[in-house]
Amino acid sequence: MEADDWARAALRDIEAAATLAACESLRVQYLGKQGRMTAELRGLARLPADERRARGFVLNGVKAQLEAALAHRREELARGEHERRLAAERLDMTLPGVEPQWGTLHPITQVRRRLADVMLRLGFTLRSAPEVETEWYNFDALNMPADHPAREMHDTFYVDPPYVLRTHTSPFQIRAMREAGGELPLRVATLGFTYRRDDDATHVPQFMQMEGLVVDRGIGLPDLKGVVLAVVRDVFGPAERIRLRPSFFPFTEPSAEVDMSCPLCLGAGCRVCHTGWIEVLGSGLVHPRVLEAGGYDPNDVSGFAFGWGVERVAMLLYGLKELRPLYQSDVRFLRAFDSWDV
Ligand code: DAH
Repeated sequence: MEADDWARAALRDIEAAATLAACESLRVQYLGKQGRMTAELRGLARLPADERRARGFVLNGVKAQLEAALAHRREELARGEHERRLAAERLDMTLPGVEPQWGTLHPITQVRRRLADVMLRLGFTLRSAPEVETEWYNFDALNMPADHPAREMHDTFYVDPPYVLRTHTSPFQIRAMREAGGELPLRVATLGFTYRRDDDATHVPQFMQMEGLVVDRGIGLPDLKGVVLAVVRDVFGPAERIRLRPSFFPFTEPSAEVDMSCPLCLGAGCRVCHTGWIEVLGSGLVHPRVLEAGGYDPNDVSGFAFGWGVERVAMLLYGLKELRPLYQSDVRFLRAFDSWDV
């Protein structure tokens, strides 16, 4: 039949198509709106009714054949292209990979862990205490009466009375003693945030303190000095020396500030320390009223306590002039503490 000649030619063309683009132009040529098949189907209208049916049947068969041939050829070509690409592309296994970005422990976290670690090794138990504290625990129980200057509005963050954001970790002493219920010996330490209305190069309103407390029979200044020296040497190095300087804290009697030999010049005297000594912590023998508030009898037992600022320890350890960068989350700064081995 005449209809078959063009259809046979079309099938040959499709099988020979060299590219997907050639397939597409053959589709337009034979099956498109202006294509041969459309013209043939239109021609059906001019045929007598009996021939129209038979011719229509043939044309539908041809159309299905052409569509199947196109689909087949397209698939062949696509597969071929894929194989060519696989053959042509090379993966260079010797190129260096993309390195993952490792985070580092924040310097304050590193110092905290170090401080917690030495306290645990010295036989202390670590405990936490509330940051939102009552005035009684934060001040009164620590022998700081209502007219004490540290209780001024400009020093302390008052929440709804009687609550304050604790201005130091010392209220933990009262909580630990009351919880211990008179048990001896008591060796506890805490680490946590404290709050004061300070904000300059070396002070931020939220900072951290670490504090230790020992209560037992016969505790005296030598016990305090031995423990503090052990802690300072563990953190700053075995060559450190300390000295106790008489001072005043309402919750200790006697009270001492502890200086350590400057870690930068090892006590020789430099621009930072001037004298060879650097003040690091507050300490003393627990005041009898504080022991009483904690439920202990000051005629029977005694104790010592000490407390210091974690950021200050970090500043001395790393030789930082300012405290604020520790809390400004600049990774270029924080990465500098990458190699610390804790
Ligand atoms: N609580 C004091 C402060 O924040 C530090 C301190 C001094 C803690 C003497 C103590 C201590 O335990 O005995 O400045």
